[in-house]
Amino acid sequence: MALKKDFINDIITVTSKAAISCHEFIGKNDKINADKAATDSMRNEINKLKINGEVVIGEGELDEAPMLFIGEKLGVGGNLDIDIAVDPLEGTNFVAKNLPGGLSVIAVAEKGNLFNAPETYMDKIAVSNKVPIEATDLDFPLEKNIGNIAESLNKSVNDITVCLLDRPRHKEIINKLKQMNVKMRLISDGDISGALMVTDKKYNVDIFLGVGGGPEGVLAASAIDAYGCKFQGRFIFDNDKDILRAKQMGIKDLKKKYNLNEIIKGDSIFCATGITSGDLVKGVQMRDDKLITETLVTHKNSNMCKIVIREDTIKT
Ligand code: FBP
Repeated sequence: MALKKDFINDIITVTSKAAISCHEFIGKNDKINADKAATDSMRNEINKLKINGEVVIGEGELDEAPMLFIGEKLGVGGNLDIDIAVDPLEGTNFVAKNLPGGLSVIAVAEKGNLFNAPETYMDKIAVSNKVPIEATDLDFPLEKNIGNIAESLNKSVNDITVCLLDRPRHKEIINKLKQMNVKMRLISDGDISGALMVTDKKYNVDIFLGVGGGPEGVLAASAIDAYGCKFQGRFIFDNDKDILRAKQMGIKDLKKKYNLNEIIKGDSIFCATGITSGDLVKGVQMRDDKLITETLVTHKNSNMCKIVIREDTIKT
C-alpha cells in the first residue's frame, strides 16, 4: 500500500514544527533543552495524526523520558498502522553552538517495514548510485572499496572523496586514507547528513563510512532508499546491556550485516528540516512576522526527493 500525499504533508509539518521549536535554543549552549523542545513538539504533532503509530527508532527507553522512546505509541488511531523512526534534534552540538547542520529528522513506513533497533553504534557505508552495488561492501578491506569506486567512476584514487566522522575510533581508517592519498571530508557530527552526501554529486562525496549512531544509520538508510544509493550497516553490541536488549528485540545474529532492503521495506517517507543551515537544507529563517523552514523530503513510491519550503507565522 502507498502512503498518501496528504500524509507526506503531515510528516513535513512534524519536522518543520520541531525545527521551529528548537529555533530559540540556537547558540544557547543548552543541548538538553534544545533536544527537549524538538522532542516535545514532535510528540505533540505526531499525536494529532490519524494513525496507529509506534516509535521503532527513538531515543532510549521508557525510563529515559521525556525522549520519544522505542515502543512509544503515537497518534489518535485509525486505519493506518505506522512505524516511526525519529531524531527530533540531529546534531545537538550544532544547535547548542550555533554551527551549521542541525536537523529535525523523521522516517515513517507501514507497520513492520522499518527496522526495530536498540540505540547502539553502527558500522556503516553509504555509496553513490553511480557505483555498481556489488563494487563495495562493509566487509571489503578499505583499499578494495576505494579502488573499486575509483575504477567504476573512472577516477584516480586520489580524486575519491570519503566522508566520515572525525573520531579517535577512526584513527586507523584516517591514517590509511591518508597513505592512499584519498580526499577526506571529516565531519565533527551529524552523520545522517554525512551519509546523504553520497546522494548528489554536488556534495562531492563518493562514499560515507565508519561508526556512528545506529538510529542515525536507520534514518539515513530510509532517505537513501529513495535515491537508489547503497547502504549497509552492522550494529555494534559490545556490552551486556546492549546484547540483552538486542536479544529482547528479537535480533538473533548480533553480527549481522544489514542491507538497505532489510532496514526499510515498501513505501516510506523521510523528512529532515534544517534548524541551523547546512549542506542539505537551510536552517529556520526569520523574515518579518514569518518563520521559514526548508525540509528535504523523500517519498519512495513516487520517487520524490525534493526540498519543501514552508512559512509559519510567528506567535506573539
Ligand atoms: P546528537 O545529535 O545526538 O548529538 O548526535 C550527533 C552525532 O554526531 C550523530 O550524527 C552521530 O551518529 C553520533 O553523534 C556519533 O556519536 P559519537 O559522538 O558518540 O561519536
